[in-house]
Amino acid sequence: MKPLVIVGAGGHGREAHDIAVAVNEVNPSFELVGFLDDALSPGDPAAPHTATILGGIDWLESHAVAFVPAVGSPELRRLIVQRFPHHEVADLIHPTATIGSHVSHGPGLIMAAGSRVTHAVTLGQHVHINVNSTISHDCRVGDFVTITPGVHLSGSVTLHDEVWMGIGSSAIQGVTVGARSVVGAGAAIIHDVPPDTTTVGVPGRPAHHREDTE
Ligand SMILES: CC(C)(COP(=O)(O)OP(=O)(O)OC[C@H]1O[C@@H](n2cnc3c(N)ncnc32)[C@H](O)[C@@H]1OP(=O)(O)O)[C@@H](O)C(=O)NCCC(=O)NCCS
Repeated sequence: MKPLVIVGAGGHGREAHDIAVAVNEVNPSFELVGFLDDALSPGDPAAPHTATILGGIDWLESHAVAFVPAVGSPELRRLIVQRFPHHEVADLIHPTATIGSHVSHGPGLIMAAGSRVTHAVTLGQHVHINVNSTISHDCRVGDFVTITPGVHLSGSVTLHDEVWMGIGSSAIQGVTVGARSVVGAGAAIIHDVPPDTTTVGVPGRPAHHREDTE
């Protein structure tokens, strides 16, 4: 059993904990040590009861245990990983998730219940695929990409690093979504999306460019 801490005790982190529990029921793998969360104090009565709040992220500096960053923000996930490059990172793949043949993935993969990756898909590091999302053949998904529930990618879609796909969004075959772009809830991507762009609607159109507001 691998001692494991989950970084982030928000909704996403608590879901990740549930996945680890589900994995253990089928194949005992993890000793669930607790959560790390900068926004909660150890023993915080508001904290979730599924596992102990051990402290903030600094706790990892003095503990050489495996961790999984379970926060939805791609950028925050990257910052956490960059801070602890020598710690072991775990994958959390729910027993009901499925992975086809010729799939490669980096460390820190989280696949929630019912998510499916089919044939010849490449996933970068710390990709999160939430419940009932599907990634079809030959897709290329970059590092720190977040795929929220009910997202569907057709074949040969490319998502560059740190893309965030909103709930129920989809992409037709062959399109590319540029790095750090956000796809809004329910959007249908039918054309390539440039980097740093928020796209909404059906068909997907730019809603707002971050450079406009920064
Ligand atoms: C796309 C999103 C990130 C935009 O957030 P934002 O940058 O704060 O944008 P705003 O709310 O200011 O909206 C900008 C414009 O886009 C429209 N818009 C926002 N989200 C939209 C969506 N999902 N579909 C269609 N239009 C949308 C707004 O109506 C607004 O248009 P208007 O100026 O004509 O009124 C957000 O609305 C969204 O869809 N988030 C996804 C949430 C989600 O999937 N959560 C899953 C968690 S597991």
